[in-house]
Amino acid sequence: MADSTKSATLTIGGKSYELPIHAPTAGPDVIDIRKLYGQADVFTYDPGFTSTAACDSTITFIDGEEGVLLHRGYSIGDLASKSHYLEVCYLLLYGELPSPKKLEDFESLVTNHTMLHEQMINFFRGFRRDAHPMAIMTGVVGAMSAFYHDSTDISDPHQREVATIRLIAKMPTIAAMAYKYTIGQPFVYPRNDLDYASNFLRMCFAVPAEDYVVDPILSRAMDRIFTLHADHEQNASTSTVRLASSSGANPFACIAAGIACLWGPAHGGANQACLEMLKEIGTPDRIPEFIARAKDKNDPFRLMGFGHRVYKNFDPRATVMKESADEVLELLGVDNNPILQVAKELEKEALSDPYFADKKLFPNVDFYSGIILEAMGFPTSMFTPIFALARTVGWISQWKEQISDPQLKIGRPRQLYLGETQRDYVDIENR
Ligand code: CMC
Repeated sequence: MADSTKSATLTIGGKSYELPIHAPTAGPDVIDIRKLYGQADVFTYDPGFTSTAACDSTITFIDGEEGVLLHRGYSIGDLASKSHYLEVCYLLLYGELPSPKKLEDFESLVTNHTMLHEQMINFFRGFRRDAHPMAIMTGVVGAMSAFYHDSTDISDPHQREVATIRLIAKMPTIAAMAYKYTIGQPFVYPRNDLDYASNFLRMCFAVPAEDYVVDPILSRAMDRIFTLHADHEQNASTSTVRLASSSGANPFACIAAGIACLWGPAHGGANQACLEMLKEIGTPDRIPEFIARAKDKNDPFRLMGFGHRVYKNFDPRATVMKESADEVLELLGVDNNPILQVAKELEKEALSDPYFADKKLFPNVDFYSGIILEAMGFPTSMFTPIFALARTVGWISQWKEQISDPQLKIGRPRQLYLGETQRDYVDIENR
């Protein structure tokens, strides 16, 4: 909503342009520059989008200075302690907390779509055994548009809904199958009598020779990891999903694009990179060496699992994740694991170092989620697939919101061109 009492004036070469200002329900005002190019023949320049809002949204709000994360107005702390993942999925998708009946129906719908088309097994088998599970997930989710072609027409609200449920329901099955494939174990089919998190744990850890009894504390911790990763407004992978979707691409293609983007170590890949870093550090006595490298301007090394683009005081997800980590480590009796010792010591030393305090760098959600997943027995290569699984609901909620916006436009950023201006072609014999 443009606030009629406020506008910004931009003066270029003596000529002034009035730019409307939009008042959000929370967060800083937003200057509307949509007409600027048409009126003033200039672009704005903002690589990394640090000052640019690319859309309006009602789903998630973050105040990075205060460490606030709200989904549809509810704080992540409340959701992580009082709610559970599928209820949060409902909230993100439909905007309100469900009534008991609506929740029951939603959970039953998701539960009844967890199986994959049997032919997709052949698709998995086409991958090399040593393929990274994220590579498999990107390929398999993209391939869903071939296997579930009846839910790719984005102009049909019913098909959009079916694609939504299929994605949320099948993602744990896909992630677990990607894992089983890479370790050479048979796929474990989903079981409809288990809740979402327990089902995922069982699909990962059961084998035909021996069933897996899910510990409720681990299942709760898994569910909490899903909940804490469910959505995070317009981050790189979500913006990728929105950009892909702006061309009218089908939902499976858009989510595959989001998974591909999430894989990078500066984003969802940080949880794997963090654990690998802890392993490389190896023993607490080597921590000062790595802290010194992270502070060295001439060394590209960064402390993985530290820092955040938006959170500049603390990451509210990390606070909850840290509690969960303590619970899980105690349950599993692994708090003397050498990697975890390094993690605890690194956290302590980095937090008391002025470099990290001055730059507002502190452990983010990926620092603690990696520790829990390691303790649960997941290999590091599964950390980012688990993040992708959990973030699917955020991507799809943002995708749904965008598709139903009547003002939807294809995303098309401009550039500051610094290359050659037009020049004459030189024949090869004259070069
Ligand atoms: N270790 C050491 N120095 C760092 C770190 C770090 N982890 N992160 C930022 N800095 C320094 C950086 O060198 C820069 O210093 P200077 O101002 O002297 O040039 C300053 O802090 C600001 O860094 P930036 O790169 O401008 O900040 P950004 O907002 O663009 O980057 C980030 C945010 C998350 C990419 C970055 O902090 C980072 O690379 N962290 C490690 C990777 C990581 O843990 N990512 C997971 C983020 S949480 C999960 C998710 O949402 O995906």
